[in-house]
Amino acid sequence: MKNGLEDVIAAETQLSDVDGEAGRLIIRGISLDQLVAGSSYEGVAALLLDGLVERSFDETQLREWLAKARTRVFDHIRTADPSLLTLPPVDAMRALIARLPDGEDFDTALALLAAPAVFLPAILRLQCCEQPIEPNASLSQAADILRMLTGNAPSKEQTAALDAYLVTISDHGLNASTFASRVIASTQAGLTSSVLAALSALKGPLHGGAPGPVLDMLDAIGTAENAGQWLGEALDRGERLMGFGHRIYRVRDPRADALKGVLKPLIATGQVDSARGALAEAVEAAALAVLKVRKPNRLLDVNVEFYTALLLEALGFPREAFTGVFAIGRTVGWLAHAREQALEGRLIRPRSVYIGPLPAAA
Ligand code: COA
Repeated sequence: MKNGLEDVIAAETQLSDVDGEAGRLIIRGISLDQLVAGSSYEGVAALLLDGLVERSFDETQLREWLAKARTRVFDHIRTADPSLLTLPPVDAMRALIARLPDGEDFDTALALLAAPAVFLPAILRLQCCEQPIEPNASLSQAADILRMLTGNAPSKEQTAALDAYLVTISDHGLNASTFASRVIASTQAGLTSSVLAALSALKGPLHGGAPGPVLDMLDAIGTAENAGQWLGEALDRGERLMGFGHRIYRVRDPRADALKGVLKPLIATGQVDSARGALAEAVEAAALAVLKVRKPNRLLDVNVEFYTALLLEALGFPREAFTGVFAIGRTVGWLAHAREQALEGRLIRPRSVYIGPLPAAA
């Protein structure tokens, strides 16, 4: 038995490959850097779903359908139970998604792609006693999310940055939430059930819940000079450094560098505080140095969540919403894996080793 199923191969997939030794991510035959440079969120979504849903379409067609789906799911906001607003944003979002019909058809998939993008900005506004903003069907998913969040038209650089973020995190092998999605799909439950299970797995701090705590760490460290001592003391207390380490990568997570690149135009145009960027780089360097000394037997490097934190903060998302933004991007991966698993048609049902007491002899 392998604790945490480490190195266990539990599925065949044509969707994505994570090479932890080379630090390489491939999505449907295209490397991450090529995708980030040349594809929109809608383009990657079309790529991931190609052949797995009953309709065929290209990026332009998907963009149009998705925009209409955003308008349709907005109706759920009008009838939202006000008590949901006392929940953390990701939990309120999950409760709203749970109200969508469950099914395996393409319309269910479209609603699930649109729902987190609409629900999260609306929940954040309602929690600040502001009216939710209706979707604008002429915009891309990334531009519309930012507009629904702030009420203002986002800058070209902001839209490009969120779009690149959504591309970067769209799929990533058999991570915990994707595995959860496949387990549910293997029982022939619908896509809404798969997405809800995946979202529940994502919110844990060891998976998609890390970027908020990354900002807490940067705030607590405060200055570059403080970094080494603060990080050493955190390790003394037995804490893990958020934004570092990975189950598969033994080198830098390629998504971290992709996002660092996405931040550059925002820094150059003054849309990210350059002092914040410099502090993050100093903390990254100090963390890598201290981890090398304290954990010599484990290659620990920066992961996707570190620069996610900086990027989402710069785009105006509050830190308690970061996991929800991750879910907006990752839902397409969950859906593609759920469909792939459902089409394979085999129930996932592993076994456990019983180590409890045996019944007393009669
Ligand atoms: N900070 C400090 N130590 C870390 C660490 C981190 N971020 N990540 C792993 N380690 C240490 C463990 O404490 C352990 O040390 P030990 O052998 O002295 O006990 C060793 O590295 C191996 O850890 P292990 O628990 O086997 O690694 P894993 O594969 O289960 O962990 C993560 C993967 C992502 C859960 C882990 O790296 C982590 O908790 N990172 C912080 C949270 C985070 O950034 N999550 C987002 C992931 S994309």
